[in-house]
Amino acid sequence: MVQERDNVVGLDSSILMNRQVWQTSGHVEGFADPLVECEICHRRYREDLLEGFIKEVNKHQPSTKVGNPSWPDDVKEYYISAQDHLDKKHQFMPARMFNLMFKTHIGPVEDEGAETFLRPETAQGIFVNFGNVVDTMRVKLPFGIAQIGKGFRNEITTGNFLFRVREFEMMELEYFTYPAQAEKDFEYWQKERMKWHEGLGLTKKNLRFREHGKDERAHYAARSVDIEYNWPFIGWGELEGIANRTDYELKAHSEESGKDLSYFDDATKKKLTPFVIEPSIGLGRLMLALLVDAYSEEKAPTSEKGESETRVLLKLDASIAPIKAAIFPLVKDEKITKIAKEIYKELKETWFVQYDESGSVGRRYRRQDEAGTPYCITVDFDSLKDAAVTVRDRDSMKQDRIKLKELTDYIKRKLRNTSYL
Ligand code: GAP
Repeated sequence: MVQERDNVVGLDSSILMNRQVWQTSGHVEGFADPLVECEICHRRYREDLLEGFIKEVNKHQPSTKVGNPSWPDDVKEYYISAQDHLDKKHQFMPARMFNLMFKTHIGPVEDEGAETFLRPETAQGIFVNFGNVVDTMRVKLPFGIAQIGKGFRNEITTGNFLFRVREFEMMELEYFTYPAQAEKDFEYWQKERMKWHEGLGLTKKNLRFREHGKDERAHYAARSVDIEYNWPFIGWGELEGIANRTDYELKAHSEESGKDLSYFDDATKKKLTPFVIEPSIGLGRLMLALLVDAYSEEKAPTSEKGESETRVLLKLDASIAPIKAAIFPLVKDEKITKIAKEIYKELKETWFVQYDESGSVGRRYRRQDEAGTPYCITVDFDSLKDAAVTVRDRDSMKQDRIKLKELTDYIKRKLRNTSYL
């Protein structure tokens, strides 16, 4: 999204900004969810999630009203109590809007003037730095500013593992373009982002686009499309949002701050305020999708002839596997461990790799399968004679005999064949 593109730059802006930024952006007024509270037990729910979740659960689990019994307790409890409350609709107090921003104070005096918020999105830091980037980075429209950083939201209902949390890493791109080109660029980014997810190895049939209705869109958006993932615990749900934010923020911040955030176009010799196309995703939510997508169980033969066992493996695309290779000495023989450690030292310079000499080779394979390590390299007695090792592929379990001097290139070639390296 940044390094391989000529027209996108990276930024690391502040988490804490002047309160006025959030006032102007509309977050103080509008960044709120409808909260409902039970009159009896005072449990609180996000009104919009409640109905949707229950509908989704019943669609997938018609026989069990309260969802899949194999769910973790906290998820089950949420559905059970939510279902119970829905059945007795009258018990909810009327919904009230609840602002999701965490409040804090700048400086030693906690009066209203010193109040500000932890950022609920990184995007505003990009908008208020727009002028700095234009002045220093020699960028020409259309261009993007991308940022990864923490976002904070005081969510009413958290849960479903990493899906909804209160503190999360956001990855956002604000792509500034000519207003007349905005719709075309929106389509471009929609396609690019879907390709990006598929490139990371997410299963195509678990991904889809969903266009937001007018009443669903955030206050700044002229158009919004979600990339949805078919989550095993809630069904289809947002993975990433792509929005056409128009010139809403650049204009609003210009007006409120008195600092001109327009762009001078060399071609027409005129000033204009660019439109913004924004793909935005939570890193944790993406990780969750990658994990559930890659998790698989299959029957695999054991070392005993004719017998098989269940093998758990994470079929992560090699480009995102946290450990690229594991190196095993077949036995703890000094001559063999010496070669294995040399391989480990060499590969470690380029990739995250692991050295493991404990337990049977079968067990060591299973350990790496569960961590999603694409290649396991075993040094055996033959290695002392043929200066070669076996490289075992995680998914096919096929083994190749590779000369030691060709090993690094072999792994490099294999990794290059994956989508992103
Ligand atoms: N700047 C646009 C924006 O903030 P959003 O749809 O509210 O849009 C963007 O959030 C992405 O951040 C979502 O698509 C989702 O991946 C992630 N996200 C939002 N709220 C989250 C939460 N409470 N926990 C984890 N990830 C979250």
